[in-house]
Formats: sequence, C-alpha cells, structure tokens
Amino acid sequence: MKTMIPELSSESVWMKDRQRVEEILQSMSKDGSNTLQVISDFDLTLTRFSYNGKRCPTCHNILEGSNAISNEARQTLDDLLHTYYPIEIDISRPVEEKLPLMVEWWTKAHELLVQQRIKKDELAEAVRQSEARLREGYECFFDCLHEHAIPLLIFSAGIGDILEEVIRQANVFHPNVKVISNYMDFDESGILRAFKGELIHIYNKREGALLNTGHFEELRSRPNVLLMGDSLGDLDMADGVQDMKNILKIGFLNDKLKERKQSYMDSYDVVLVGDASLEVPNAVIRFLTGNK
Ligand code: TMP
Ligand code: MG
Repeated sequence: MKTMIPELSSESVWMKDRQRVEEILQSMSKDGSNTLQVISDFDLTLTRFSYNGKRCPTCHNILEGSNAISNEARQTLDDLLHTYYPIEIDISRPVEEKLPLMVEWWTKAHELLVQQRIKKDELAEAVRQSEARLREGYECFFDCLHEHAIPLLIFSAGIGDILEEVIRQANVFHPNVKVISNYMDFDESGILRAFKGELIHIYNKREGALLNTGHFEELRSRPNVLLMGDSLGDLDMADGVQDMKNILKIGFLNDKLKERKQSYMDSYDVVLVGDASLEVPNAVIRFLTGNK
C-alpha cells in the first residue's frame, strides 16, 4: 500500500484497519490544518509510563512523592493506587462496575490531599523534584501545533495545577494550549482547601466535555480531530466537539499489552505499544500541516 506516513509501518504501531486510517488522513489533509484541533489526555499519554525500568509519576503521584505531604499520607495514596489502578485497567470488568470505584478513588485521594494543607508555592518544587517526563518528541509536538496555530486541548483527570507546571517547566505551555482538569482551590494564605468544580475522573470525560461547550463552540470551524489517550475512558474526550467531520484516535498501550491488545485495536484507530515516543503523532501533524 502507498505509505503516506512511513512511521505508521513500524512494528510497534498496530492498526485494525490501515486503509481506513489512510482515508481519514487523506480527508483531513484535504481540509487543511486550519480545520484541525487536537485533544489529548495528559498522564501516561503526553507523559511517559516508565523510564529505565521505573514507573513515571502521574500528576497525583508527583504530589505523593513530594515533601508537600506527610509519610503517612504518602503511604495511604500508594495503597489507594495499588487497590484501584488494577481496577482501572481491568478489561474484564464493565465500565458501569468500575465507575463508582473510580469516583471512590479520586474522592479519597482528593480528600487526603486537602487534609495535607498543601501550599500553592510548593507545587513548582514538587514538579522540579519529580521524575515526571514528557514523552520523547514533546518539543516538536507542542511547538509544531503552536507554530501552525492548531488548538491543543489537554483533557486530564489528573491535577490541572500540576500538569500546567510540568509543561511550563518544559517551556511548552504555549497560548494555543487549553486545559480541562481538576484544579486546586487555595485559600487567601495559599493553602489547598478544596478542588474546584465537577470532579473529572477517568470515566466521566464525556460529561466534562459536555460541560465545556464554550470551548468547543469557539472551535466550530475545526471539525477534524486528532485524539490521543492511554485509557479507554479517553475516547469520550471529543464528545463535545461540534459538527465533527473526521476523528483519528491514537492510543498509547503502555501496560498489559496481551490482555488489552484487542480492545485497544477495536477502539483506537492507531495503537502505539510499549511506552512509545510522540514520533507517530508528530508525523501525522507534519503530514496534516504539509511540513515534510
Ligand atoms: P489522566 O486523565 O491525565 O490520564 O489522569 C488520570 C490518571 O491519574 C489515571 O491513570 C490514574 C491516575 N491517578 C493516580 O495515579 N493517583 C491517584 O491518586 C488518582 C486519583 C489517579
Ligand atoms: Mg492517562
């Protein structure tokens, strides 16, 4: 088959229907990059899953590993992770069964963080000290979208203040980036007192998307969507997009490859396996912006 994007031919790229992927790309390319918007999850999608054999932290894990919380709280958050993360990624359980458990996880974690009286000015240091890593190729990803004025929505069930700090410290928090996430609410003395707005967890991104109609209304002239996620819950992030024409879904399959291969290939158009870099999304963006 004629290869528009050679990067798609790599062994670590799985596609159930390559022809369909190429058709979507052709159609998007014809429409031009001024009709494109990118919607991406953050934790373990824009950031790495592991590095040198060690797991990399999510937004919550960054706080967990920092001096902003007590040893006891750290242990409890870790216990919660070990209880609930296996449930998050268990494909044998239906979403309806997992949903209340995910709400339980996020609620317990956020209550615990609030009890820790975390200070706003401790966040930057927590991020600096952490092992959080954006995936290889992140400079090109963020800079290229910015250069072509393509809006990037980062839609995260992590913590907005933390993820903003990660991309700010990496010098890629450009004005084309908008974040929907759980934001911390600080009191006058800069101490965490609650989380703002509706809770976003891994399985309610559809509701989160529908609450942000203003954002998607503004992007009405961009009916072509590149969506990136690492969880099956991320597939709902584009549900607020108005008059959608094409969507290309790229999924990062980080963990439990064998068990999850089929469900990822059934749901994502392109599946990147084994803690991939951003090479494939970057190649897609290059193709769609006509940059060779
Ligand atoms: P994401 O939507 O940006 O991927 O963020 C959600 C991730 O955060 C999800 O993979 C689970 C993870 N998480 C933790 O690591 N620790 C926690 O305490 C909670 C509530 C979530
Ligand atoms: Mg994620």
